[in-house]
Amino acid sequence: MSITDQIQKVRAEFSSDLESLSSENGALDQIRIKYLGRKGLVASLFVQMGTVAADERPKMGQVLNELKSDITAEIDGLGNTDSDSSKSATSNIDYTLPGDPIPAGSIHPLTQVMEEIKSIFLRLGFSIVYGPEIDTDFYNFEALNIPRHHPARDMQDTFYITDNVLLRTHTSDTQIHFMENHEPPVRIIAPGRVYRNEDLSVRSYCLFHQIEGLYVDSKVTFAELKGTLDYFARELFGQNVKTRFRPSYFPFTEPSAEMDVSCIFCKGKGCGICKKTGWLEILGCGMVDPEVYKSVNYDPKKWTGFAFGMGIERMAMLKYGVQDIRLFYSGDVRFLRQF
Ligand code: PHE
Repeated sequence: MSITDQIQKVRAEFSSDLESLSSENGALDQIRIKYLGRKGLVASLFVQMGTVAADERPKMGQVLNELKSDITAEIDGLGNTDSDSSKSATSNIDYTLPGDPIPAGSIHPLTQVMEEIKSIFLRLGFSIVYGPEIDTDFYNFEALNIPRHHPARDMQDTFYITDNVLLRTHTSDTQIHFMENHEPPVRIIAPGRVYRNEDLSVRSYCLFHQIEGLYVDSKVTFAELKGTLDYFARELFGQNVKTRFRPSYFPFTEPSAEMDVSCIFCKGKGCGICKKTGWLEILGCGMVDPEVYKSVNYDPKKWTGFAFGMGIERMAMLKYGVQDIRLFYSGDVRFLRQF
Protein backbone atom coordinates (compact mmCIF):
# COMPACT_ATOMS: atom_id res chain seq x y z
CA MET A 1 0.00 0.00 0.00
CA SER A 2 1.39 3.43 -0.88
CA ILE A 3 2.07 5.86 1.89
CA THR A 4 -0.66 8.17 0.60
CA ASP A 5 -3.19 5.33 0.92
CA GLN A 6 -1.89 4.54 4.39
CA ILE A 7 -2.32 8.17 5.47
CA GLN A 8 -5.91 8.10 4.23
CA LYS A 9 -6.53 4.81 6.01
CA VAL A 10 -5.22 6.19 9.32
CA ARG A 11 -7.40 9.28 8.91
CA ALA A 12 -10.49 7.14 8.28
CA GLU A 13 -9.68 4.84 11.19
CA PHE A 14 -9.22 7.82 13.48
CA SER A 15 -12.65 9.19 12.47
CA SER A 16 -14.39 5.92 13.17
CA ASP A 17 -12.52 5.53 16.48
CA LEU A 18 -13.79 8.95 17.51
CA GLU A 19 -17.34 8.06 16.51
CA SER A 20 -17.31 4.99 18.69
CA LEU A 21 -15.42 6.76 21.50
CA SER A 22 -16.82 5.59 24.84
CA SER A 23 -17.37 8.03 27.69
CA GLU A 24 -15.25 5.84 29.93
CA ASN A 25 -12.39 7.52 31.77
CA GLY A 26 -9.13 7.09 29.85
CA ALA A 27 -10.75 6.21 26.50
CA LEU A 28 -9.49 9.40 24.92
CA ASP A 29 -6.00 8.77 26.31
CA GLN A 30 -5.98 5.37 24.64
CA ILE A 31 -6.77 7.00 21.31
CA ARG A 32 -4.06 9.60 21.92
CA ILE A 33 -1.53 6.80 22.52
CA LYS A 34 -2.73 4.79 19.52
CA TYR A 35 -2.24 7.69 17.09
CA LEU A 36 0.19 10.15 18.67
CA GLY A 37 2.22 7.88 20.99
CA ARG A 38 5.93 7.25 20.47
CA LYS A 39 5.11 3.98 18.75
CA GLY A 40 1.73 5.17 17.44
CA LEU A 41 0.34 5.09 13.90
CA VAL A 42 1.44 8.62 13.03
CA ALA A 43 5.00 7.95 14.22
CA SER A 44 5.23 4.78 12.14
CA LEU A 45 4.12 6.74 9.05
CA PHE A 46 6.94 9.20 9.71
CA VAL A 47 9.37 6.23 9.85
CA GLN A 48 8.19 5.18 6.37
CA MET A 49 9.02 8.61 4.96
CA GLY A 50 12.57 7.23 4.48
CA THR A 51 11.25 4.96 1.69
CA VAL A 52 9.58 7.80 -0.25
CA ALA A 53 11.35 9.11 -3.33
CA ALA A 54 13.35 12.27 -2.56
CA ASP A 55 11.34 14.52 -4.91
CA GLU A 56 8.02 13.42 -3.40
CA ARG A 57 9.19 13.66 0.17
CA PRO A 58 8.38 17.37 0.82
CA LYS A 59 4.81 16.91 -0.47
CA MET A 60 4.33 13.72 1.56
CA GLY A 61 5.84 15.36 4.64
CA GLN A 62 3.31 18.16 4.37
CA VAL A 63 0.34 15.76 4.07
CA LEU A 64 1.61 13.76 7.01
CA ASN A 65 2.14 16.89 9.16
CA GLU A 66 -1.44 17.94 8.39
CA LEU A 67 -2.68 14.55 9.57
CA LYS A 68 -0.72 14.88 12.77
CA SER A 69 -1.95 18.39 13.58
CA ASP A 70 -5.57 17.50 12.70
CA ILE A 71 -5.51 14.50 15.03
CA THR A 72 -3.81 16.55 17.77
CA ALA A 73 -6.41 19.34 17.45
CA GLU A 74 -9.35 16.90 17.55
CA ILE A 75 -8.05 15.11 20.62
CA ASP A 76 -7.18 18.36 22.43
CA GLY A 77 -10.61 19.76 21.58
CA LEU A 78 -12.35 16.73 23.07
CA GLY A 79 -9.95 16.77 26.02
CA ASN A 80 -11.08 20.27 26.97
CA THR A 81 -14.58 19.03 27.72
CA ASP A 82 -13.12 15.99 29.45
CA SER A 83 -12.85 15.56 33.20
CA ASP A 84 -9.31 16.87 33.36
CA SER A 85 -10.19 20.09 31.52
CA SER A 86 -8.96 22.17 34.47
CA LYS A 87 -5.41 21.30 33.46
CA SER A 88 -5.57 22.93 30.06
CA ALA A 89 -7.76 25.82 31.27
CA THR A 90 -5.34 26.91 33.97
CA SER A 91 -2.39 26.59 31.66
CA ASN A 92 -3.91 29.37 29.52
CA ILE A 93 -3.48 31.93 32.30
CA ASP A 94 -0.47 34.16 31.83
CA TYR A 95 0.71 35.11 35.31
CA THR A 96 3.23 37.58 33.96
CA LEU A 97 0.58 39.95 32.53
CA PRO A 98 0.14 43.21 34.49
CA GLY A 99 -3.11 43.34 36.54
CA ASP A 100 -6.17 45.46 35.71
CA PRO A 101 -5.83 48.83 37.43
CA ILE A 102 -8.50 49.61 40.08
CA PRO A 103 -9.70 53.15 39.33
CA ALA A 104 -9.20 55.48 42.31
CA GLY A 105 -11.99 57.96 43.09
CA SER A 106 -11.42 61.72 43.14
CA ILE A 107 -12.06 64.28 45.86
CA HIS A 108 -15.50 65.85 45.40
CA PRO A 109 -15.29 69.42 44.06
CA LEU A 110 -17.26 70.73 47.06
CA THR A 111 -14.78 69.12 49.44
CA GLN A 112 -11.90 70.60 47.45
CA VAL A 113 -13.30 74.14 47.62
CA MET A 114 -14.24 73.70 51.28
CA GLU A 115 -10.67 72.58 52.12
CA GLU A 116 -9.18 75.50 50.20
CA ILE A 117 -11.36 78.06 51.99
CA LYS A 118 -10.66 76.48 55.37
CA SER A 119 -6.90 76.61 54.78
CA ILE A 120 -7.05 80.33 53.88
CA PHE A 121 -8.76 81.17 57.19
CA LEU A 122 -6.54 78.80 59.15
CA ARG A 123 -3.56 80.80 57.87
CA LEU A 124 -5.24 83.95 59.24
CA GLY A 125 -5.52 82.40 62.70
CA PHE A 126 -9.15 81.23 62.63
CA SER A 127 -10.15 77.90 64.20
CA ILE A 128 -12.69 75.49 62.74
CA VAL A 129 -15.80 74.58 64.75
CA TYR A 130 -18.72 72.33 63.86
CA GLY A 131 -22.31 72.48 65.06
CA PRO A 132 -25.47 70.36 64.84
CA GLU A 133 -27.47 70.19 61.61
CA ILE A 134 -30.65 69.62 63.61
CA ASP A 135 -31.07 72.56 65.95
CA THR A 136 -33.65 74.55 67.84
CA ASP A 137 -35.44 77.69 66.83
CA PHE A 138 -33.42 79.60 69.44
CA TYR A 139 -29.99 78.92 67.89
CA ASN A 140 -31.06 79.20 64.26
CA PHE A 141 -33.27 82.30 64.63
CA GLU A 142 -34.09 83.78 68.03
CA ALA A 143 -30.52 84.31 69.31
CA LEU A 144 -29.57 85.77 65.93
CA ASN A 145 -32.12 88.56 66.29
CA ILE A 146 -34.45 87.10 63.69
CA PRO A 147 -37.89 88.10 64.94
CA ARG A 148 -41.00 85.92 64.63
CA HIS A 149 -42.33 87.82 61.63
CA HIS A 150 -39.10 87.67 59.60
CA PRO A 151 -39.63 86.09 56.15
CA ALA A 152 -36.70 83.70 56.72
CA ARG A 153 -38.86 81.92 59.28
CA ASP A 154 -41.59 81.31 56.79
CA MET A 155 -42.46 77.64 56.30
CA GLN A 156 -41.37 78.09 52.67
CA ASP A 157 -37.73 78.27 53.64
CA THR A 158 -37.31 76.15 56.74
CA PHE A 159 -37.71 72.41 57.23
CA TYR A 160 -39.36 72.16 60.64
CA ILE A 161 -39.26 68.88 62.55
CA THR A 162 -41.43 70.13 65.40
CA ASP A 163 -42.57 73.66 66.27
CA ASN A 164 -39.26 74.23 67.97
CA VAL A 165 -36.83 71.87 66.22
CA LEU A 166 -35.61 72.37 62.65
CA LEU A 167 -32.92 71.65 60.09
CA ARG A 168 -30.60 74.64 60.31
CA THR A 169 -30.90 77.11 57.45
CA HIS A 170 -27.40 78.55 57.96
CA THR A 171 -24.32 77.73 60.04
CA SER A 172 -24.76 80.93 62.09
CA ASP A 173 -26.30 78.67 64.76
CA THR A 174 -22.80 77.29 65.41
CA GLN A 175 -21.56 80.78 66.29
CA ILE A 176 -24.21 81.07 69.03
CA HIS A 177 -23.28 77.63 70.42
CA PHE A 178 -19.63 78.66 70.46
CA MET A 179 -20.14 82.07 72.09
CA GLU A 180 -22.29 80.51 74.81
CA ASN A 181 -19.31 78.42 75.88
CA HIS A 182 -16.34 80.70 75.16
CA GLU A 183 -15.29 84.18 76.21
CA PRO A 184 -13.81 86.56 73.60
CA PRO A 185 -11.54 86.87 71.76
CA VAL A 186 -13.36 84.63 69.25
CA ARG A 187 -11.92 83.80 65.85
CA ILE A 188 -13.78 80.89 64.26
CA ILE A 189 -15.16 79.57 61.00
CA ALA A 190 -18.10 77.16 60.93
CA PRO A 191 -18.37 74.95 57.84
CA GLY A 192 -21.23 72.55 57.27
CA ARG A 193 -24.46 71.51 55.62
CA VAL A 194 -27.54 73.67 55.71
CA TYR A 195 -31.08 73.02 54.48
CA ARG A 196 -33.69 75.18 52.79
CA ASN A 197 -37.10 74.27 51.52
CA GLU A 198 -36.72 75.88 48.11
CA ASP A 199 -37.86 74.88 44.64
CA LEU A 200 -35.09 72.88 42.95
CA SER A 201 -33.47 74.67 40.04
CA VAL A 202 -30.07 75.22 38.44
CA ARG A 203 -29.35 77.76 41.19
CA SER A 204 -30.91 76.24 44.32
CA TYR A 205 -31.05 72.87 45.97
CA CYS A 206 -32.75 71.71 49.19
CA LEU A 207 -29.38 71.38 50.88
CA PHE A 208 -26.08 73.13 50.40
CA HIS A 209 -22.89 73.98 52.29
CA GLN A 210 -21.82 77.15 54.00
CA ILE A 211 -18.78 78.52 55.71
CA GLU A 212 -19.49 81.29 58.17
CA GLY A 213 -16.89 83.26 60.07
CA LEU A 214 -17.00 85.16 63.37
CA TYR A 215 -14.42 87.49 64.86
CA VAL A 216 -15.09 89.09 68.26
CA ASP A 217 -12.64 91.20 70.25
CA SER A 218 -12.45 94.72 71.65
CA LYS A 219 -12.47 97.58 69.14
CA VAL A 220 -12.87 95.48 65.98
CA THR A 221 -13.52 97.76 63.00
CA PHE A 222 -15.29 97.49 59.68
CA ALA A 223 -11.89 98.12 58.04
CA GLU A 224 -10.66 94.83 59.54
CA LEU A 225 -13.70 93.06 58.10
CA LYS A 226 -12.91 94.50 54.65
CA GLY A 227 -9.21 93.69 54.90
CA THR A 228 -9.86 90.09 55.95
CA LEU A 229 -12.40 89.37 53.21
CA ASP A 230 -10.38 91.19 50.56
CA TYR A 231 -7.38 88.98 51.40
CA PHE A 232 -9.62 85.92 51.30
CA ALA A 233 -11.00 86.76 47.84
CA ARG A 234 -7.50 87.27 46.38
CA GLU A 235 -6.27 84.00 47.85
CA LEU A 236 -9.23 82.07 46.41
CA PHE A 237 -9.75 83.74 43.03
CA GLY A 238 -6.31 85.18 42.27
CA GLN A 239 -4.35 88.30 43.20
CA ASN A 240 -5.83 90.45 40.42
CA VAL A 241 -9.42 90.12 41.63
CA LYS A 242 -11.08 93.31 42.89
CA THR A 243 -13.68 93.46 45.66
CA ARG A 244 -16.50 95.86 46.46
CA PHE A 245 -18.94 96.08 49.36
CA ARG A 246 -22.60 97.00 48.89
CA PRO A 247 -24.90 97.92 51.80
CA SER A 248 -27.31 95.11 52.67
CA TYR A 249 -29.46 93.84 55.51
CA PHE A 250 -29.13 90.89 57.90
CA PRO A 251 -30.93 90.83 61.26
CA PHE A 252 -27.76 89.71 63.07
CA THR A 253 -25.33 92.32 61.68
CA GLU A 254 -25.40 96.12 61.67
CA PRO A 255 -24.18 97.58 59.41
CA SER A 256 -24.47 94.75 56.88
CA ALA A 257 -22.94 94.36 53.44
CA GLU A 258 -22.62 92.03 50.53
CA MET A 259 -19.24 91.52 48.95
CA ASP A 260 -18.76 91.22 45.19
CA VAL A 261 -15.63 90.20 43.32
CA SER A 262 -14.78 91.47 39.84
CA CYS A 263 -16.05 88.86 37.38
CA ILE A 264 -13.42 86.14 37.06
CA PHE A 265 -14.69 85.14 33.62
CA CYS A 266 -14.60 88.50 31.79
CA LYS A 267 -12.18 90.27 34.19
CA GLY A 268 -14.85 92.86 34.96
CA LYS A 269 -15.72 93.79 31.37
CA GLY A 270 -19.25 92.37 31.54
CA CYS A 271 -20.41 88.96 30.27
CA GLY A 272 -23.30 86.51 30.43
CA ILE A 273 -22.26 85.04 33.78
CA CYS A 274 -22.00 88.41 35.61
CA LYS A 275 -25.11 89.61 33.72
CA LYS A 276 -23.05 92.38 32.08
CA THR A 277 -22.31 94.02 35.45
CA GLY A 278 -18.66 92.96 35.71
CA TRP A 279 -19.28 91.83 39.33
CA LEU A 280 -20.20 88.55 41.05
CA GLU A 281 -21.83 88.50 44.47
CA ILE A 282 -20.05 86.01 46.74
CA LEU A 283 -20.88 86.57 50.40
CA GLY A 284 -22.81 88.40 53.11
CA CYS A 285 -21.13 90.10 56.05
CA GLY A 286 -21.38 92.81 58.67
CA MET A 287 -20.58 93.98 62.19
CA VAL A 288 -22.23 91.71 64.77
CA ASP A 289 -25.47 93.31 66.02
CA PRO A 290 -25.35 94.12 69.79
CA GLU A 291 -28.63 92.19 70.15
CA VAL A 292 -26.74 88.97 69.33
CA TYR A 293 -24.24 89.62 72.15
CA LYS A 294 -27.10 90.01 74.61
CA SER A 295 -28.43 86.53 73.83
CA VAL A 296 -25.06 84.93 74.64
CA ASN A 297 -24.34 87.14 77.68
CA TYR A 298 -21.51 89.12 76.12
CA ASP A 299 -21.30 92.77 77.18
CA PRO A 300 -22.20 94.75 74.00
CA LYS A 301 -20.32 97.78 75.34
CA LYS A 302 -17.14 95.79 75.71
CA TRP A 303 -17.08 93.59 72.61
CA THR A 304 -17.28 94.28 68.91
CA GLY A 305 -16.81 91.96 65.96
CA PHE A 306 -17.66 90.99 62.44
CA ALA A 307 -19.30 87.97 60.82
CA PHE A 308 -19.56 86.69 57.27
CA GLY A 309 -21.15 83.77 55.48
CA MET A 310 -20.86 82.21 52.05
CA GLY A 311 -22.24 79.26 50.09
CA ILE A 312 -19.67 76.67 49.03
CA GLU A 313 -21.69 75.54 46.01
CA ARG A 314 -21.72 79.07 44.65
CA MET A 315 -17.95 79.34 45.10
CA ALA A 316 -17.39 75.99 43.38
CA MET A 317 -19.74 76.93 40.51
CA LEU A 318 -17.77 80.13 39.94
CA LYS A 319 -14.36 78.54 40.34
CA TYR A 320 -15.05 75.63 37.99
CA GLY A 321 -17.67 77.20 35.71
CA VAL A 322 -20.41 74.71 36.74
CA GLN A 323 -23.82 75.81 35.44
CA ASP A 324 -26.18 73.58 37.45
CA ILE A 325 -25.96 73.22 41.25
CA ARG A 326 -27.70 69.81 41.11
CA LEU A 327 -24.67 68.26 39.39
CA PHE A 328 -22.86 68.33 42.75
CA TYR A 329 -25.46 65.93 44.13
CA SER A 330 -26.00 63.74 41.06
CA GLY A 331 -23.20 61.27 41.91
CA ASP A 332 -22.49 61.15 38.16
CA VAL A 333 -18.90 59.93 37.72
CA ARG A 334 -18.66 61.65 34.32
CA PHE A 335 -19.04 64.95 36.20
CA LEU A 336 -16.89 63.99 39.19
CA ARG A 337 -14.01 62.62 37.08
CA GLN A 338 -13.33 66.12 35.77
CA PHE A 339 -11.99 67.37 39.12
N1 PHE B 1 -26.26 83.69 57.58
C1 PHE B 1 -26.31 84.43 56.35
C2 PHE B 1 -26.98 83.54 55.30
O1 PHE B 1 -27.15 82.38 55.51
C3 PHE B 1 -24.95 84.82 55.85
C4 PHE B 1 -24.29 85.81 56.75
C5 PHE B 1 -23.50 85.38 57.79
C6 PHE B 1 -24.45 87.17 56.56
C7 PHE B 1 -22.88 86.30 58.61
C8 PHE B 1 -23.84 88.08 57.38
C9 PHE B 1 -23.05 87.65 58.39
O2 PHE B 1 -27.36 84.03 54.26
